[in-house]
Amino acid sequence: MSNLIDVRLEALEGRVSPDDATRAADAPTAAGRTFYIETFGCQMNVHDSEKVAGVLLGRGYQQVETPDAAQLVFYNTCSIREKAAQKVFGRLGDVKAAQKAGKTIGVLGCVAQQEGERIFERAPWVSLVCGSASYRKLPELLARIESGDRRVTGLETDTDETFETEITRRDNPFRAYITIIEGCDKACAYCVVPFTRGPERSRASAAVLREARQLADLGYTETQLLGQTVNSYRDPSPRGLRFSELLLAVAEIPGIRRVRFTTSHPSDFHADIVEALDATPALCDHVHLPVQSGSTRVLRAMQRTYTRETYLEKIALIRAARRPISITSDIIVGFPGESEADFEETLSLLDVVQYDGIFSFKYSPRPNTRALSMADPIPEEEKGRRLAVLQEKQRQIQAARNQTLVGQTFEVLVDGQARKPGQWAGRTSSNRVANFTSLRSELLGEYVQVRITSAGPNSLVGEQII
Ligand code: SAH
Ligand code: SF4
Ligand code: F3S
Repeated sequence: MSNLIDVRLEALEGRVSPDDATRAADAPTAAGRTFYIETFGCQMNVHDSEKVAGVLLGRGYQQVETPDAAQLVFYNTCSIREKAAQKVFGRLGDVKAAQKAGKTIGVLGCVAQQEGERIFERAPWVSLVCGSASYRKLPELLARIESGDRRVTGLETDTDETFETEITRRDNPFRAYITIIEGCDKACAYCVVPFTRGPERSRASAAVLREARQLADLGYTETQLLGQTVNSYRDPSPRGLRFSELLLAVAEIPGIRRVRFTTSHPSDFHADIVEALDATPALCDHVHLPVQSGSTRVLRAMQRTYTRETYLEKIALIRAARRPISITSDIIVGFPGESEADFEETLSLLDVVQYDGIFSFKYSPRPNTRALSMADPIPEEEKGRRLAVLQEKQRQIQAARNQTLVGQTFEVLVDGQARKPGQWAGRTSSNRVANFTSLRSELLGEYVQVRITSAGPNSLVGEQII
């Protein structure tokens, strides 16, 4: 299929705007030019890849499903833990022979920023290394590659600019991401993100709202505002919207039925956000508020800028809302110096907060971070034990919490077929997975009412109410 038809079809399917499709179709055609992009890491990386794909489509490239079929092979990488960072070197090994066959290999994202030109030493068949803070330079880097440059890099992080693209090739037909703030100005002792994504940069509210309106025009009903510390958003334009005001403004756009946001930092989480959720049904019943540890001593060592007590005050604000709001978290076990007593405090925090879900990780030492120089005497097996204990406790909490929802009815946005034949799958406003039966045969993308008939720790089961 030609690129032109491909892009226009996507426009029809609601993935790129018709204007963008025309622009892409009018772009200089690059006969037979194809690209493949594989993404690791967080939603911000997923969305960056959608934008990178948009830049490439705009230059006349066509997206393909395998590295074998592609002339340009991009890996958008994650460096958050050692294992994630290692993955890309495995992939680069797989495509070693490809460069001889005339392909261009590029490494983007957090490993690119962290390793920089060292990637060329380790994998000399790579031609492009670019971190997310330099993506605005991608068209120029691509042009240099096209004119025969063997090695190009984009590794600056000292920028005020955010990555705005004319075309974004959206992969998820039901949930459209919008980046509202890039980088991170916090300094958590374990975390590479401030080094790999550069300093915090907020987008002007007008640009965010314009993109949200375009998405609504394209038929998207659910949008998710993204940032590593999304609630640290500060409108750089004279309008000066606070994060909660931006949430309200997005939720007011006709056609937008659900607005999500992630990730919130506890220190920047205030009552006005809960007031906004209470006032506006389109703002989803869910806050992801990572705590990392239940021990104030460990939180101090992590430089998380809040204590167990002040974190619990934020939880109390959310619990005082007029509607139930689901709360999820990230937790690290085995941070250097975490004692058994500290770990017990994390377990007791789970009891107190009653999270609806957690992502939990064993501490992984990372380059450049402050924690790297801290003594790390906790053996790997002990970290593994703590993780298993934590996850089992949370499984029981979730099973009990979900059980209380049996008999209730929730609105579900249908996004696929469930694994069980004959069942549909979707998400509630609280971001729970609901699998359900229906008499209807076509439901994708619809909002339906589902009565919950049973529940497990990770999902709900129900039936559609007509
Ligand atoms: N910006 C978000 C989190 C980004 S990274 C926040 O501030 O909460 C996603 C999660 O990965 C973190 O919340 C943390 O739980 C985990 N993580 C980050 N660095 C890690 C490390 N070095 N080892 C283990 N887990 C880590
Ligand atoms: Fe990393 Fe902390 Fe920034 Fe989150 S807030 S991205 S954990 S430094
Ligand atoms: Fe990974 Fe970078 Fe995201 S390190 S988690 S891809 S910000």
